[in-house]
Amino acid sequence: MIRTASYTRDLLPAALSNDRDASAFIHRFQFVEDLAREWFRRYGFQEIRTPIFERTELFTRGVGSETDIVTKEMYTWRDRAGEDGEGESLTLRPESTAPVVRAYIQHQMWQRAETVRLYYIGPQFRRERGQRGRFRQFFQIGAEVLGASDHPALDAEGIELVMGLLTEAGIPDLELRLNTVGNAAGRVRFVAAIREALAPRAHELSEDSRRRLETNPLRILDSKAEQDQPLIAALPPIYDVLDEGCRAHFDAVRRYLDAAGIPYVVDARLVRGLDYYTQTVFEVVSHAPAIGAQNALAGGGRYDGLVETLGGPPTKGFGFALGLDRVVLAMPEHRAPEPPPELFVIYLGASALELALHAVRQARRAGIAALFDPTPRSLKSALRLANKYGARFALLLGEAELASGQWVLRDLARAEQTAVPSETWLQHLLARRG
Ligand code: HAM
Repeated sequence: MIRTASYTRDLLPAALSNDRDASAFIHRFQFVEDLAREWFRRYGFQEIRTPIFERTELFTRGVGSETDIVTKEMYTWRDRAGEDGEGESLTLRPESTAPVVRAYIQHQMWQRAETVRLYYIGPQFRRERGQRGRFRQFFQIGAEVLGASDHPALDAEGIELVMGLLTEAGIPDLELRLNTVGNAAGRVRFVAAIREALAPRAHELSEDSRRRLETNPLRILDSKAEQDQPLIAALPPIYDVLDEGCRAHFDAVRRYLDAAGIPYVVDARLVRGLDYYTQTVFEVVSHAPAIGAQNALAGGGRYDGLVETLGGPPTKGFGFALGLDRVVLAMPEHRAPEPPPELFVIYLGASALELALHAVRQARRAGIAALFDPTPRSLKSALRLANKYGARFALLLGEAELASGQWVLRDLARAEQTAVPSETWLQHLLARRG
């Protein structure tokens, strides 16, 4: 048997899954996706779909060549050389902010709108060690706001959207963690402070962190290595080395969140694992037991220099992505019940087949989820099948019903049935389904 590749999985209809773990049930993913589309509509976002692979350079320049994502986790290959020229290096997207920014530049979107609000829903790929809530193909729902303004109200609005969506999805025990990484000048000072604090103790750092002390000291704060933790904890908070403007921006984001009634904790060590962030950064975690160690459900922040880094005009940016797999894992089962079919049409005897096909078509055109199975069966076995599908009603069509013009509508949950005139059976059903 050929199985899915390591740490990838199929998302299946519940009834076809022999795993009772609801975290891979497709209807739960669809539920959150529908909810997200609705929230994006309310906040004025439009959908964008970018390719799932891009030129590798987009991520090395966009996400940062010293990040874990770029150094360890990307699926990269050299394309075969062909008519289009030399085989180029391509990469399955590990995230979608760089691709959306690429599209913003490629389509010169700034010429059409002062503020561009885009959202995406789709798979991302990272070659990570799998565990509960961590996959090599995972799904993100994300949004990016690009334009002339870096007003802190935009940051707070984006965070409000994420928190509102997660709350409506019924995710328990949410915690919003907030920090600032300042502007480029502030980070230069912070990096100098990190070097000064860590250089004398470099030998105590993990190998990765020792290298990053030279190449990109900020990334030391992402380290998961046990031995690095006490050294990281002793670093000064970045806020202390920032200038007035950066502090004022962060203070304003906090005020807007307070005004919106959104609680948060300031986490002075939060820098996020991607190089493009400036000013506000945030993460949303859930302490629900279902979710386990990989408890970051969403993350994002401001990235005011990224458009320029990727060759576009000076532009401000803010965005976030939530990990759909983890949201589904944390979502209580009752929040997204699987919608059952409403009607099962049963025919008894070959003479009723055509009429049954007509009835099922009528029901579907009226918007009812209606099932039909052409295999001839006894009434008992057909009812058993209808119950197995979880249908709420059954329509029974046999020779007697054909002759009398009175069809039988059965409420399967209540085990009650009524005869209804053939011309108005659909109205009866529509009235009864509530
Ligand atoms: P990120 O923090 O790398 O940010 O990913 C966002 C979310 O994706 C995480 O909080 C997590 O829920 C989910 N995620 C990440 N890796 C995995 C994985 N291997 N398996 C399952 N879920 C995962 C970004 O990707 C940024 N592009 C967010 C952003 C948008 N910043 C600004 N705009």
